Amino acid sequence: MAQRTLSIVKPDAVRKGFTGAILAEIEKAGFRIGAIKKQSISKEQAQGFYQVHAGKPFFDGLTTFMSSGPLVLMVLEKENAIADLRKLMGATNPANAEEGTIRKRFAGSVQENAIHGSDAEDTAAFEIGYWFAGYELI
Ligand code: CMP
Repeated sequence: MAQRTLSIVKPDAVRKGFTGAILAEIEKAGFRIGAIKKQSISKEQAQGFYQVHAGKPFFDGLTTFMSSGPLVLMVLEKENAIADLRKLMGATNPANAEEGTIRKRFAGSVQENAIHGSDAEDTAAFEIGYWFAGYELI
């Protein structure tokens, strides 16, 4: 059965005009885009989304960055979607990302790293519910 994961094309990638190329990679890898929306978020919304990282040294910079411009929120569906998307994204730090991954191709730094993907089933459920209402997921 298909699994759902939450993905974000981050503000750095949107600013650089990489949205379409990243979506193409995602679809080419067999994901179905179940829901998608482009919007700007407030710093408070970013803090709520990344609450598991509150207190970490990069938290303030990360939430400022995520609220610095429009981003693209998506619910992606596929068998094994969570692990497969993380593989397609590559390592958090693009310097460590494998050739052919989205972060290797499109990310500029460990913070401005082009794309987010949920890391487990429970976080995926929280993250999808954080950005999407039930009626948007039909
Ligand atoms: P993401 O997968 O969205 O989850 C948490 C984010 O925090 C991560 O991608 C990076 O954008 C950011 N991040 C993680 N580690 C660091 C770090 N050491 N310095 C700056 N930002 C980081």
